[in-house]
Amino acid sequence: MTARQLTFAANWKMNHGPAEARAFAEKFLALTPAAEGRRLWFFPAAVSIAALADALKGRSDVTIGAQNVHWEPKGAFTGGISIPMVTEVGARLTLVGHSERRHLFGETDEQVGRKTKAALAAGITPLVCVGETLAERDGGRTEQVIVRQLGAVLAALQSPDWERVVMAYEPVWAIGTGKNATPDDAAQIHELIRMELGRKGVPHRVPILYGGSVSSANVASLLSRPQLDGVLVGGASLNPEGWAEVVDRGSKAKVRPSGGFDLIEG
Ligand code: PGA
Repeated sequence: MTARQLTFAANWKMNHGPAEARAFAEKFLALTPAAEGRRLWFFPAAVSIAALADALKGRSDVTIGAQNVHWEPKGAFTGGISIPMVTEVGARLTLVGHSERRHLFGETDEQVGRKTKAALAAGITPLVCVGETLAERDGGRTEQVIVRQLGAVLAALQSPDWERVVMAYEPVWAIGTGKNATPDDAAQIHELIRMELGRKGVPHRVPILYGGSVSSANVASLLSRPQLDGVLVGGASLNPEGWAEVVDRGSKAKVRPSGGFDLIEG
């Protein structure tokens, strides 16, 4: 069996300043050696990118990213942070369109498209998040919402660009609630995203991570589904011991084919 390349992405949100980030790195490094078949991504607060990049610089399996960037490289955007700025201090990735950006800060689909395009143009990897709210899910609009969110990104990119895009499916109702999507539900939406991209002429298999209340208790069953290429984790990534356990358990997940649902045909 060939080992899968899994991505374990930690989204620290508005937690851990530079000193805490360094202390985290020191403990985490001792607990989690580099291993074949997995990569570790960290999205600290912007002010902690430099400290974390420095503390983890010996590890080729680790990459640091920004949680949010502006699409313009510079200018009169008070409070904004540009891609050249985060790149200068060590970021090689950026989250785009996280649901907290969309729902708490009013980020639009169109802005998500612009940021994704700008990240690619600047040579960093965008981790583009999509996902439905509880009301949208209950209203039977999950597919429609995901297709709309993807549509804005598709409109901003050329098909070869997708080779460098990574996506995350993060149902909004699962984020920070302790209520994760079931492995089958997550797998089904990952299929939907891939089918939609395929329908729109994207020739690559885009890696898709799942996010939303991932923990050491559920990570192995989620990653047992071959449709999931990794996890994007908030709360359970905040302390080094807990995050090391999520990474360790997830890395040992045994892949089994998903059953129990029909692929959504176009
Ligand atoms: P959570 O957050 O793991 O705390 O649910 C995930 C995310 O927002 O990326």
